[in-house]
Amino acid sequence: MIPTTERKLALRAAVNEWIGGSFPEHRTLLSHEAPIYEPQADAWSVKLTTKRNGVAALHLGSVLLAHDASIIEAPPAAEVLSLLPVGATSEPTRAAVTGDRLQFGCGDGITAAEAMPDRSIDLLLTDPPYGISQRYTCETQVPRRLRKDGNDFIMPKGHFGDWDEAIDPHAWTAKVLPKVAGWAVTFCAQAQIGTYCDIFAEHGLVAVGPMVWQKTNPVPFNHRYKPVNAWEAIVVGKRSRTPFNGKMVHNVFVHKSPSPQQRIHPTQKPLPLMAQFVNLFSEPDGLVFDPFAGSATTLIAARQAARCAIGYELDPTLFGLAAERVEAEIEKMLPL
Ligand SMILES: C[S@@+](CC[C@H](N)C(=O)[O-])C[C@H]1O[C@@H](n2cnc3c(N)ncnc32)[C@H](O)[C@@H]1O
Repeated sequence: MIPTTERKLALRAAVNEWIGGSFPEHRTLLSHEAPIYEPQADAWSVKLTTKRNGVAALHLGSVLLAHDASIIEAPPAAEVLSLLPVGATSEPTRAAVTGDRLQFGCGDGITAAEAMPDRSIDLLLTDPPYGISQRYTCETQVPRRLRKDGNDFIMPKGHFGDWDEAIDPHAWTAKVLPKVAGWAVTFCAQAQIGTYCDIFAEHGLVAVGPMVWQKTNPVPFNHRYKPVNAWEAIVVGKRSRTPFNGKMVHNVFVHKSPSPQQRIHPTQKPLPLMAQFVNLFSEPDGLVFDPFAGSATTLIAARQAARCAIGYELDPTLFGLAAERVEAEIEKMLPL
């Protein structure tokens, strides 16, 4: 059986998502091939390989998927890692990126915030980990056997990576929000919108409310069993009298998610979305802070818009990749 284009895309998107979740530190080393129909299993098999880079690709195992792109079976992560041309974990790689109005360090962004003067951040623009494998976004994980009767959906199994360890909204905001002089913008799980709105209001922010990033290319997980999740939640608020640079701007922002090939972080946000926020919620030369920088999208957007940017990423491997990204982007920019 030859897959339709729609099915091929859905199957490969599901495998991409699985790779991102299972191998957040090594995803750039992994690739996959076109789905092949397995008549005995009445399912689709997608072969995992190493990325080519001029050498023969190494076969790492196959992922078996049902017609609705739910994963039936995947090779154990440890097995795949043992076949990759690197050790299972990489050592902390490199020093901070410090330069023209930009500081990006490997470390705890909350501790770093504590050392900053009160009301010194003009825009807090951040995206803390909220545990995408937890009930917040995925409902409770459904046992695999439910999938077999075809009457219910499943969520992908497995560990999404240490970077995804959920962080308590009250704990980090208690340290960071006192430092905010202007706008605060945070991504969160859909079920956390109320919590963050309450916290922002308790910290004296005004104009508090949710916003939406609508994805034009959502991953079609379980699309036969429930509406596809095509948006992410953001909560926004500001200190009284902080200017807003928009006019008639709606609080729904429509942007494409970066493709797996473009991403170095599993939950990397679109650069144009972050650039839009930087422009709406801060002024040139203002200080933009991201304590949970991931691939440093916030910092790149801020620096491109002639703001000062400070950010931290706790995971050394992710930091190494993000620091390289920042440096590559800075090279393309004109000096300020
Ligand atoms: C949801 S991701 C951010 C993705 C980012 N918006 C992007 O576009 O790539 C959250 C990141 O925060 C990092 N993190 C978690 N706790 C941290 C902490 N205390 N300090 C710094 N980074 C932290 C995680 O390792 C993860 O990479």
